[in-house]
Amino acid sequence: MNIDLLIHNASQILTLAGGPQPGHDLGNLEVVENGALAINDEKIIAVGPSPELSKKYKATQEIDAAGRVVMPGFVDPHTHLIWAGDRAAEFEMRLAGASYMEILNAGGGILSTVRLTRSASVDDLVAQARGRLNRMLSHGTTTAEVKTGYGLETETELRMMEAILRLDTENPVELIPTFLGAHAIPSEFSDDPVGYTDLICDEMLPSLVQWWEENATERSLPFVDVFCETGAFNLDQSRRILERAKELGFQLKIHADEFDGLGGTGLAVELGATSADHLVRTPKEDIKTLGASKTVAVSLPCTPFGLAESDYTPAKAILEAGGILALATDLNPGTAWCESMQFPIALACRYMHLTPSQAIAAATINAAAAVARADTVGSLEPEKQADVLIIDTPDYRHLGYRFGVNLISTVIKRGKIVFSRGGEEII
Ligand code: NIG
Ligand code: FE
Repeated sequence: MNIDLLIHNASQILTLAGGPQPGHDLGNLEVVENGALAINDEKIIAVGPSPELSKKYKATQEIDAAGRVVMPGFVDPHTHLIWAGDRAAEFEMRLAGASYMEILNAGGGILSTVRLTRSASVDDLVAQARGRLNRMLSHGTTTAEVKTGYGLETETELRMMEAILRLDTENPVELIPTFLGAHAIPSEFSDDPVGYTDLICDEMLPSLVQWWEENATERSLPFVDVFCETGAFNLDQSRRILERAKELGFQLKIHADEFDGLGGTGLAVELGATSADHLVRTPKEDIKTLGASKTVAVSLPCTPFGLAESDYTPAKAILEAGGILALATDLNPGTAWCESMQFPIALACRYMHLTPSQAIAAATINAAAAVARADTVGSLEPEKQADVLIIDTPDYRHLGYRFGVNLISTVIKRGKIVFSRGGEEII
């Protein structure tokens, strides 16, 4: 049979076949040794032993993986890719002892990025995010969720949304948009968080529905997310926003338990949210509830690392409770400017005590579940999109074991080579 592309001679193909992996099932990579991958028409058509597939298929293009690892593209299910400026000065303030929430409550932090983002055009926002998105791609991310949330008023939030959709069309990385108008209380509402909550429910969310009908009818509605935290949105305000979003037909996400366990995770489960993210200070009861649900637990280890804090997501407890654990970068200018999914994998192995195979599953098939895309991406199985990485190592455990360098050799999105370092020696 004639096909578009055959990748052969892989030391290990990590297929991640079988769907999202809850609890102690996490880490089942379904490895094919000396494997090959047959791709046609942007999709995977077969995975199996190299000699067998090489005999069966005649490919227009062949890639000799030369003993490297082949695996699904990373899915990064939590990023704040779009912003203007940087916060290097605040990084120094934090090193000198100021806390992240103190800086925010004094009008800096997220609010300083909001000031710069409000004065940026869509072109500016796209131009500033483009380099970051290309870095995500070259580090192996083939699908990523991207949030708004540096506008905090309808017009800028929609401008951010337009920038996300534009980058999605110009870059191979597939972007999944999320509306995060509830990222912080803007300065003009600093004495009236309830007033801003009303604005989100009564004006911003309905405007988003209308904007979507006019600008993105062919796409499903974005996710809606809330930063449920002391100093941002309390549990009542988070509930109002998410309930209104649900009523309007949006799928839900939440930033919960980053600094305080306010009950956001329990709320996410109650409302059937697709994911609950951060989960550092999650109360025991909420871990139990989460574990018994389909809501994906998205851990963001770059964030405590970026803030030089010592507490990470209690991954073992979440897995013991049966939870579906995923990893993401949380790419943002305040706490975690990191484009590479390889780094949270390395952190999760050390500080969350995951094995490399568990961290890899959390960064692929479970991360796909965190953005409701486990049916199309996150594993290498017939009928799925051909989003494939060739890693410049002979053994998958080098992901996690090694850090601070890019181990990606080739990135393939929907069957096309979109990044290749070429000529590199293995190891
Ligand atoms: O997920 N915690 C809230 N939001 C982001 C940080 C955004 C920022 O500081 O600009 C997060 O960590
Ligand atoms: Fe975030």
